[in-house]
Amino acid sequence: MELPFGLANLVASPGRLGEAARWQRRVEGFVLDQIGNPPARVLEVGCGKGDLAYALVGAGYSVTAIDPRAREVPIFRRVGIEEFSELGPFDHVVAILSLHHVEEIGGALDKIVSLLRAGGTLVVVEFAWDLIHVATAEWALAHLPDTSALGKHSWLERCYRGRAHDRGDEGGHLDAEAHVARWAGEEGLHSSGQMLEEIGRRFAQRSFSRRPYLYPDLGDNTSEADGLAAIEAGEINATSFCYVGAVASDRSAFTRWAGA
Ligand SMILES: C[S@@+](CC[C@H](N)C(=O)[O-])C[C@H]1O[C@@H](n2cnc3c(N)ncnc32)[C@H](O)[C@@H]1O
Repeated sequence: MELPFGLANLVASPGRLGEAARWQRRVEGFVLDQIGNPPARVLEVGCGKGDLAYALVGAGYSVTAIDPRAREVPIFRRVGIEEFSELGPFDHVVAILSLHHVEEIGGALDKIVSLLRAGGTLVVVEFAWDLIHVATAEWALAHLPDTSALGKHSWLERCYRGRAHDRGDEGGHLDAEAHVARWAGEEGLHSSGQMLEEIGRRFAQRSFSRRPYLYPDLGDNTSEADGLAAIEAGEINATSFCYVGAVASDRSAFTRWAGA
């Protein structure tokens, strides 16, 4: 499965890696703000290279980090959430940019619920690809660096220009929503609407915010502040969201098991 939205897939250049690193620090800060003080047991679902898991360990949490692509070293498990078989309860489950990839979102969330203690929290940062409309795509493409010298192209270019070019449409991004929807369908990605609906069935929301997402993939001089300003000016959509919810007590297997 191609994973074009991992920040590890960025085309290397100092400025872009700078924004990617800043994104990662913001994600870490957000998660740490949500999960209270250690000690606490945290499960990370879809940990990728493991940067967040290491940051949580460094902050004093007991961490298990799973991913079908995880490295085989302590704290990491090379397994999807569907097959993960260790016992809970966990105090927190954290999922950063992974839920839109899982095959069956309802089953994955049921599994997460079953692993959380009563009142345990789910912390999610997700990509809302379904909110990339024409103006958002135009803005992103206008801020893309010239990668032709590197012989590499970002997923944004491949998604819009590549598909348009395949169709002989040199105008390219004019049909951005259709290109993105077709690409997401081919990849089997869940939309933000689907994810939030399924999460809402199982968790009581504590906080929710929409944020810019595309900036780490853009040019050297495009920051999160530029993304926020464009969102506030109504020029682009916010294409990520941050969610925190508590498992509803009637949903917690551990509450039922304890007879509470
Ligand atoms: C876009 S990457 C995000 C990685 C990391 N969380 C980050 O923010 O850089 C999505 C990750 O989800 C993982 N993933 C996909 N399906 C999964 C599943 N069913 N269970 C656990 N992880 C999964 C992928 O292997 C991939 O590493």
